[in-house]
Amino acid sequence: MKIYLANPRGFCAGVDRAIDIVDLSLKKYGAPIYVRHEIVHSRHVVNSLRQKGAVFVEELSEVPEGSVVIFSAHGVAKSVWEEARQRRLHVIDATCPLVIKVHNEVNRDYTQGYELILIGHAGHPEVIGTLGQIPDKFHLVSSVEDVEKLHVDNTLNLSYVTQTTLSVDECRDIVGALHQRFPNIKGPHQEDICYATQNRQNAVKELSRLVDVILVIGSPNSSNSNRLRELGEQCGIPSYLIDSANDINPAWLKGARAVGIAAGASAPEVLVTEVVASLKAAEPSDVEELTVIEEDVEFLLPKELVQIEPAVR
Ligand code: F3S
Repeated sequence: MKIYLANPRGFCAGVDRAIDIVDLSLKKYGAPIYVRHEIVHSRHVVNSLRQKGAVFVEELSEVPEGSVVIFSAHGVAKSVWEEARQRRLHVIDATCPLVIKVHNEVNRDYTQGYELILIGHAGHPEVIGTLGQIPDKFHLVSSVEDVEKLHVDNTLNLSYVTQTTLSVDECRDIVGALHQRFPNIKGPHQEDICYATQNRQNAVKELSRLVDVILVIGSPNSSNSNRLRELGEQCGIPSYLIDSANDINPAWLKGARAVGIAAGASAPEVLVTEVVASLKAAEPSDVEELTVIEEDVEFLLPKELVQIEPAVR
């Protein structure tokens, strides 16, 4: 059997930075360090940080006054910052800089009097954080049908932003529907769907030309991993989301001559290695990297942590 590994795959610069922030905060301040929400959507990453002394909470009310708390890569609403201030918490912000860019767009457009629309999935923490940037009405749409049903107050003064981890193709259709219904709508100068999401989706498209089955490594609550699995299916290839090698169902691979492996932006490489080993144990296989682009994006750490030596992963 042939195994193709999608490249790029796995950790993006925002996830790398967020995990480093938890590691370095533990080194600098000692355990426990509180983290609001899963730092990134990966069961493997969360469990390993928990073992080092990170305590994951959903609400700041669970954090003792005066403690160190880290905000996850997905970003938070302004009200969460205010609550942290009132509870005298020491906040270290691991929000991905590309999510902060979207928050900045929202705040700028709101200040300029625009009525705002967010393209995204209801309930995702990034969406909750972005909607929470402004106190007024903020429309959420997640499909072309939502655009058709949308009621706005001022069709001449509308702007939109998007979640960073959407399907590029689906988002293009929704943006097209917005422009058709509201010809004066203003969008971001630069694409909000992040480079890592776009690159991983392009890699799955390439994989789908060569393989009979696609395995996407990622946790069920990871938005970008779910989009990769859906994209594989849309390309006509049976595609499965797995959290680890243990989730592989041998029936999926029956008769497959080539298997593609992709990994969402929060999936560590160790899980890819384990999946490859498990496939090779079941059947002797050649492994080949399928590289669509080299990534070299890095984000700076918060100033208070730059002096600490990062942990080796
Ligand atoms: Fe940031 Fe995109 Fe990763 S928004 S956390 S670089 S998936």
